[in-house]
Amino acid sequence: MASNSRAQFSSKFGFIMAAAGSAVGLGNIWGFPTQTASNGGAVFLFVYLAMICLLAFPMLVAELTIGRYGQSDPIGSIRAVWPKGRSGAILLGLAAMITASLILSFYSIVAGWLVGSFAGSLFDIVGLTTASDWVNSFGPARNLTLMVTFMLLTMHVVKNGVHDGIELWSTRLMPVLFGLFAILIIYIFTLDGATEGLKMYLIPDFSHLSPKLVVSAMGQAFFSLSLGVGTIMVYGSYLSKDINIPKTAAQVAAVDTGVAIGAGLLILPAMFVAKAQGVQIFSEAGELLSSDTLVFTVLPAMFDTMGGAGLVVSLIFFLLMIIAALTSSISMLEVPVACAIEELNHKRSTAVAWIGGLITLIAAVIVFNFGALFGLVIEITTVYGQPILGLCFALLVGWVWSRNKLLEEIKQGYPELEKGLFWKIWPLYVRIVCPVFMILVFFA
Ligand code: PFF
Repeated sequence: MASNSRAQFSSKFGFIMAAAGSAVGLGNIWGFPTQTASNGGAVFLFVYLAMICLLAFPMLVAELTIGRYGQSDPIGSIRAVWPKGRSGAILLGLAAMITASLILSFYSIVAGWLVGSFAGSLFDIVGLTTASDWVNSFGPARNLTLMVTFMLLTMHVVKNGVHDGIELWSTRLMPVLFGLFAILIIYIFTLDGATEGLKMYLIPDFSHLSPKLVVSAMGQAFFSLSLGVGTIMVYGSYLSKDINIPKTAAQVAAVDTGVAIGAGLLILPAMFVAKAQGVQIFSEAGELLSSDTLVFTVLPAMFDTMGGAGLVVSLIFFLLMIIAALTSSISMLEVPVACAIEELNHKRSTAVAWIGGLITLIAAVIVFNFGALFGLVIEITTVYGQPILGLCFALLVGWVWSRNKLLEEIKQGYPELEKGLFWKIWPLYVRIVCPVFMILVFFA
């Protein structure tokens, strides 16, 4: 795909579903409920919501705009808004690419666990209990097999490109996921213990409020909206010029936040339902046990309460979860792949093969050094990498890019831009408030 015949999303709905597909994933269903449960429930929820509105949404607009203006991979798009900073653009683009790839390396391991839960339900239905036990056990061989399976799926979709891969999958399957989610939330509240989880989720205990919590919430907000790694920039570059960027960004942020809130409404009550059934969730001291695998412990306990139907529901649920993870993982892989296609003139299939292979290798190293590397890679990429790169992108839009060009770009899909409140606040906000806020949170 040469840069003069760039692919595009074919409709606004297709773009929203693809961007929401990137945003909605393990971050919502695994990361957010786990962080909420380990950070005092409601307090984390409130700080997280504030971070989404005050930081993540303005940054989402910024990244989309850079991408649509540049009409290129992240390196090319950054170069377009910063023509004098050639090596700076390469450096930033490379940093984004590496962060996206490292995120994919741990993401594929967790998504592999979903593949395991799905396969486990399938094996249970056909009576293959030994196979089911194996895919549900926790060991390097099992983790490796499942991770590689998930990476192959991701590579397959990205190989098919924007139209037949990313957009097609996202548009068809995201709405089904939202529907099933709603049904499960209603169901969980018919079970014993659920309201205890709801209390934890909605009644704040401010003793948990700390600088660390604020940093975690900021990292989670960036992770959930796929910011600071070039993903949104690449998707923005496939966006047609007549789309209203601020409005579309608000819709994507709303869908993502809605799913995170919904996931909390499901998982926190499910934790207490599982506890009521004798599953150990908290230690004697009240700390969450094995937070990495929390969701994989409490969800099966919920499905068990459904009797025979539980197996089928769990099969559908995990299938949809795999798809949610897939619509995110393809957006991560698209970052280095777009760079290889447009900067190195590689064919899409070649780029997918070598980059996907390399990321699988890194993920394999993490699988075999799980205790030492898994948490470390998550921390480096999400707590530091994403917000720091986000800060750089804010500085780029606020200080480097000419305000007129910025105005012209957004105006193409939003002709009345200058009359609205958005343009009165946002440029200055991204220039001053976002950077200062991010720096403050870091040094708090
Ligand atoms: N937003 C995704 C999620 O919440 O699961 C994760 C993600 C996707 C992070 C794409 C970064 C990225 F570039």
